[in-house]
Amino acid sequence: MTRVVYVNGRYLPYAKATVHVEDRGFQFADAVYEVIEVRSGALIEASRHLGRLVRSLGELGMPMPMTEAALRIILHQTVRRNRVRDGMAYLQVTRGVAPRDFDMPAASTPAGIVCLARDIPKAFREKQAELGIAVVTVPDIRWGRCDIKTTMLLPAVLAKQNARARGAKEAWLVDAEGFVTEAASANAWIVSQDGLLVTRALSATILPGVTRAALIDLVAAEGLVLQERAFTPAEAAAAKEAFVTSATSTVMPVVKIDGAMIGDGSPGPIAQRLRKIFHSAAATLGGSETQRGKPLS
Ligand code: PDD
Repeated sequence: MTRVVYVNGRYLPYAKATVHVEDRGFQFADAVYEVIEVRSGALIEASRHLGRLVRSLGELGMPMPMTEAALRIILHQTVRRNRVRDGMAYLQVTRGVAPRDFDMPAASTPAGIVCLARDIPKAFREKQAELGIAVVTVPDIRWGRCDIKTTMLLPAVLAKQNARARGAKEAWLVDAEGFVTEAASANAWIVSQDGLLVTRALSATILPGVTRAALIDLVAAEGLVLQERAFTPAEAAAAKEAFVTSATSTVMPVVKIDGAMIGDGSPGPIAQRLRKIFHSAAATLGGSETQRGKPLS
């Protein structure tokens, strides 16, 4: 449960945590965000997440509202004040408050900053990973800059709703050429028939996932060969394994696509192994992040 939320310089009780009606995040989705996994109280891959936030802001011509170190303090404080052990921290930066106008306000307009954190029960996540999830494919109707992590998430919300209605947990988005871009809120992967690890190459069509990047650092040591290329839903259906990666699901096996079983319909050994090694690497990395965070709490 979220008890305390950081809003524009103050830590407020959840019920009082509000932003102005003319915040550009509210009116135009003129805002970027990060979701960071919290594991054993530590922020996992915080440096990569903050690096991506800096990039997202830069692509939209927004200045960093404060130093990275100051943002880290807010993240750590929010996690600590909410007593989150395993869950996530959410950080959003908007272009601030200004009378509604498509023209951007003066660059000196103070940014809006919101940070919250909450537990995600570990047992629930592990149970889901043991069973694997079903996905359905839907057309990718998003804009041309999916590499920027904006709060403009309505296509993802609709895709997830569509998935739910069809008895699935996630939606895999398919581009005009018939290739999977990514999941509604995760990156998409398969283990091809010839045993290669396949995920779409970075471009403006997908979010450069932090979990994706962290996993790529780990796979070579596992003797796995990575191929960064697009694949179709048909190739995924015929693949040995499939999975998605994100800060909230880490490595989540996918066992069904559009109702068809992938492999034997249970989580594959490579996905399970990658989930394990990602978690142990995160424990080491999380430890160092905690050390860096310690003097602040
Ligand atoms: N979503 N692709 C999309 C469209 C996403 O929204 C996300 C993450 C990812 C995975 O990125 P990362 O590994 O950095 O979490 C890929 C977060 C979890 C969310 O919006 O809740």
